[in-house]
Amino acid sequence: MGAGPLPLVLGAALLCAPAGLCLRVLSGQKVCYGDFKHPCYKIAYFQDVSRRVGFPEARQACKIDGGALLSLESEVEQKLIENMLQNLTKSGSGISDGDFWIGLWRSGEGQATSNACPDLYQWADGSTSPFRNWYTDEPSCGSEACVVMYHQPTAIPGLGGLYLYQWNDDRCNMKHNYICKYGPDYVLEKELGDRAEPDYEVFPPVTSGSPSDASKPEDHYHVVVTETGLIPNLIYVVIPTIPLLLLILVAFGTCCFQMLHKRGARRNCFKDPSPLSSECLAESLNSNL
Ligand SMILES: *[C@@H]1O[C@H](CO)[C@@H](O)[C@H](O)[C@H]1NC(C)=O
Repeated sequence: MGAGPLPLVLGAALLCAPAGLCLRVLSGQKVCYGDFKHPCYKIAYFQDVSRRVGFPEARQACKIDGGALLSLESEVEQKLIENMLQNLTKSGSGISDGDFWIGLWRSGEGQATSNACPDLYQWADGSTSPFRNWYTDEPSCGSEACVVMYHQPTAIPGLGGLYLYQWNDDRCNMKHNYICKYGPDYVLEKELGDRAEPDYEVFPPVTSGSPSDASKPEDHYHVVVTETGLIPNLIYVVIPTIPLLLLILVAFGTCCFQMLHKRGARRNCFKDPSPLSSECLAESLNSNL
């Protein structure tokens, strides 16, 4: 299974491709759209707030997983991610409030409060895309140098409307969910089918994508399952316990049988208290102890 840093999070959802192809989608899985020229994405959402991570950890987790923290290079790509998040939220997967780190940050502490600050933000994957989708009055700069995509569906709307999908700079050590982006997937999805644990691990590094990369994401999209979700995980817990349960059942049965047997033997002893009967001897020894 693709390295532990992207634990699993959500229940199952069902996505249906335009071609009528339905595939199981779990969060914490890599999702690919279009042909092999398009990037793939993995949404890491943690219901357990204590498992959310700071920007450097999120960046590292994506890197270890063979990708990079999400760059959003166009309106189309922004909308695609919004759509993925909407679908996940609607699917009853348990996704709710919780912002997502994206791969936008700045290092220039010196100019943190200058007018130049907004221009200092750069993409972690090397993309030079100028696309931005800031919430009203963002970026606020100062001590905030790492960027999240808002995801607060239940929050009361602010001046800029709902806190959904627009960007905000935050302190890099704050704990959030994150989204990774991967280079085009060279693995044939047909070969993979529904396998829960494909044995490929390494993906080509994300190239600073050409703007066309995400231009037509809805074309014959497919989903590659790279990590199992909560439900398959439960299965891994339940299945190994079955032999244990059987063992307990057998032990209990044996115990009951012996008790019944002993009781039967004792009854026989009362009927026929012959000292020669070894069973009666044992019984009388037992009862004397
Ligand atoms: C979201 O769900 C709709 C309806 O099932 C589907 O047509 C669309 O492609 C999905 N979008 C994404 C980005 O997965």
